Amino acid sequence: MIQAARFKTCTFIACGVLLGASVSHADQPSGLELPAPISASDFRPFDEKRAALGQLLFYDKILSGNRNIACSTCHAVAHGTSDGLSLGIGEGGVGLGPERRVVSGPDHPFKRVPRNATSLFNLGHRSIDIMFHDGRVSADDSYGVGFNSPVEEWLPEGLQSVVAAQALMPVISKVEMAGQTDENELAAAINRRIDQAWPAIVARILAVPEYVDLFMEAYSELSDARDISPVHIANALDDFQNAEWRSFSSPFDAYLAGDESALSDDARAGMALFYGDAGCADCHSGPLLTDQDFHALTLPPLGPGRNRRFEHIARDVGRMSESDLLEDAYRFRTPSLRNVAMTGPWGHNGTFATLEGIVRHHLDPQKSFDEWDRGQVVLTPAPELEFVDFVIWEDSREMPRQRAAQDIVPVALSDAQVGEIVAFLDALTDCDALSGRFGIPVSVPSGLSIDASAEMPELCKP
Ligand code: HEC
Ligand code: HEC
Repeated sequence: MIQAARFKTCTFIACGVLLGASVSHADQPSGLELPAPISASDFRPFDEKRAALGQLLFYDKILSGNRNIACSTCHAVAHGTSDGLSLGIGEGGVGLGPERRVVSGPDHPFKRVPRNATSLFNLGHRSIDIMFHDGRVSADDSYGVGFNSPVEEWLPEGLQSVVAAQALMPVISKVEMAGQTDENELAAAINRRIDQAWPAIVARILAVPEYVDLFMEAYSELSDARDISPVHIANALDDFQNAEWRSFSSPFDAYLAGDESALSDDARAGMALFYGDAGCADCHSGPLLTDQDFHALTLPPLGPGRNRRFEHIARDVGRMSESDLLEDAYRFRTPSLRNVAMTGPWGHNGTFATLEGIVRHHLDPQKSFDEWDRGQVVLTPAPELEFVDFVIWEDSREMPRQRAAQDIVPVALSDAQVGEIVAFLDALTDCDALSGRFGIPVSVPSGLSIDASAEMPELCKP
């Protein structure tokens, strides 16, 4: 194991957890501290009927204010359960992936989604206890409702996991799914109080007899349809996501299970660097290759950002927007690297168009920040939104702050070594996981159109 000193933000306790997360394989030919192989027993159980119901909800635009966007619009199989854009376009857009366009007229989006859409692999893994790039939803009982979230004590009780708690968030986000106040009853309800949109969504579900039957069958404790609640919707979405994109059959997994030939020579050399001198596993640790902790990597800023409440400058302060601690400024959660090769553009704001680019950024963040080519961002053209994209670069006070935020120690690697690390990251690809247990439904109970494509990402095409 690499010395902990490389890891500037690592407290004594956090380091202990990190070390505990990896299993020493004395019999590993590599002699590296590799994670233990994942198996189905590492996942929370799910209910088959609820997962099947969750599949329909995930693909159904009925959950969005203007019935024009579903979870699947931004979390698309064709883009490795992300959307292929640096920053996405929520409701008020049409089309999928980099082809997504804005509509003109009253439903024109008022801003881009401020962060890159995360991929949704292995969300049922028992180690997962925090959601989002800034960790604003977590298993934490500060509000007496089981989870910490932006909704605070208004989160309903009975949510079965942090993933279920997360599922209630996109539907109350005006930019993602709800739309504007004067456009529909969900958005109007949010203006009264943020949690009021959920009963409005349940009212829509109750108006579709097929959904009512499916909820009654999936939740045998329900004796009256009027007892269907937002919690039932969220738990079904959790069961679906848990069941659907379990990923532990990449070449790396085969290697962990003992098949030495599963990795190419380059990938093995990259693995040795990743778990050795390059120090990657200091943060990308454990079976999901993440410590689920927060670090500043000095990414170039892009887009409208996410700030602390009542602060309206186009910057993304990362973990600080949730913790309000100055030392957390510009820190973002370490992402899981499983299937990372298929989820570009990379970084919390999608500022790197290649895997090699984001890997090189880690090696010398400030140089990369200074030399960053903004031409690589993948954004929907939208003249009304574009003025914000790079506006923060004009801010002579903010830019030095962002540039100075760096929790990672530069590492010098040769071009060949960078190539080896990328080969290792490629070996984390598990195309089978994308096909899912349920796949893409043919239709949804609302009868609305489905945003999805059966096409696989380029690197999964035969
Ligand atoms: C408009 C695009 C959009 C839509 C629609 C959308 N998401 Fe997301 N999703 C995102 C973005 C962007 C993030 C990352 C946001 C952040 O971290 O601040 C995200 C994050 C997540 C995460 C967190 C994963 C993690 O590892 O932290 C989950 C789970 C998720 N979405 C599920 C859903 C579900 C379920 C729905 C439908 C109810 C949905 N999303 C609808 C864009 C979208
Ligand atoms: C100090 C902790 C730390 C170390 C060490 C580290 N990373 Fe990261 N890595 C992160 C964080 C945090 C992010 C997300 C940063 C952001 O989006 O602002 C990230 C992002 C990434 C991404 C982009 C993932 C995505 O989905 O966009 C890749 C790829 C990656 N790291 C690979 C590596 C490799 C390879 C190494 C070793 C050379 C490494 N990391 C070392 C913390 C670390």
